[in-house]
Amino acid sequence: MTASAAQAFLPFVKPNIDAAAIAEVGKVLASGWITSGPKMHAFEAALSELFGGRPVRTFANGSATMEIALRVANIGPGDEVITTPITWVATANVVITVGAKPVFVDIDPRTRNIDLDAVEAAITPRTRAIMPVYLSGLPVDMDRLYAIAKKHNLRVIEDAAQAIDSRWRGQRIGAFGDLVSFSFQANKNITSVEGGCLVMNSPEEAERAERLRLQGVIRTGMDGMDVEEPGGKFNLTDVNAAIGLSQLAQLDAITARRAELAEAYYRCAADSGLADLGIELPLPRDGELATTNWHMFQVVLPAERIEGGRTAVMEAMREQGVGTGVHYPAVHLFSYYRSLGWREGMLPHAERIGRSIVTLPMFPAMQAADVERVCATLSETCKRLFK
Ligand SMILES: Cc1ncc(COP(=O)(O)O)c(C=O)c1O
Repeated sequence: MTASAAQAFLPFVKPNIDAAAIAEVGKVLASGWITSGPKMHAFEAALSELFGGRPVRTFANGSATMEIALRVANIGPGDEVITTPITWVATANVVITVGAKPVFVDIDPRTRNIDLDAVEAAITPRTRAIMPVYLSGLPVDMDRLYAIAKKHNLRVIEDAAQAIDSRWRGQRIGAFGDLVSFSFQANKNITSVEGGCLVMNSPEEAERAERLRLQGVIRTGMDGMDVEEPGGKFNLTDVNAAIGLSQLAQLDAITARRAELAEAYYRCAADSGLADLGIELPLPRDGELATTNWHMFQVVLPAERIEGGRTAVMEAMREQGVGTGVHYPAVHLFSYYRSLGWREGMLPHAERIGRSIVTLPMFPAMQAADVERVCATLSETCKRLFK
């Protein structure tokens, strides 16, 4: 066993559920009302305040949130939605679920986000929406995104699943824009174990989202009930909302800690000579305008120069006690999307990054020494495996 293998295993992510959150869950369970109720409303009110007073509704998860966003935007059969292949597959799957067609365009290899030139080039008379994803929390050029949407009269459904507390021109993602969807899944910067929220434009949109999350039911008076438009079962429970509220109270500290860890990564990456090995680091920010929440710290490996490629690096790091992840393989190359006609060679930047990207450990309880260990292990591993 090597010296580093004797150390505790360092996972790539670890939730920080504290005693206060656990106590809040206990209170909900003992309260006599355990599904959607006062805690869900309190969580929605706190989120609305975070997003400058815009209407916010919560949902059972981020995927349901995006599905509801598409329905609120009236997107369905015959419509095209332009999106990125470097995302969690939910982004594309929900477009399929509502009967529309996802149109993948390539990414900018620097930001690893959707390339807005490619978005413009892909617009057709059937295009109804753009669905950007802020990978690792880094926003796209929001001025340009909304200028394109305005010019072509398109809706924007922001997949901001990873971007809570990220900013553009100093303003929080979600505090402006069209429909903005967040996830509170277990790995996210703040979690409700599972959950999500949608920021909308008007009370009318919020009312429709509220109905769609609970079978489309409209209640009137003591006993009136009607359905004009069927919905699903997508409500967030008070148990989850209590955890989310407790996490939300720590948002500033979580974002600040992640930024410190990212700085430590840049220092240690320089000390370990990662760039000289051909390892691409993330952009710290896109110009002066986009600020990430450091949801993940991801590197792109020179996979073609490494014996066994990315798999070998990830296995060797795990053996040395360092967990890593892949976020994400290019979605257009999954069997289902191939069956719709997508092939290798269509989106070269996304395909290279989908094969070579690795997520390194990043969570607030990590210490600077953990970051040093990750960089040293990655550097030694790559050197050893170079062809
Ligand atoms: C980019 C992106 N989109 C969508 C989702 C879906 O969110 P959820 O897992 O809460 O359904 C996630 C979360 O994993 C995500 O990272």
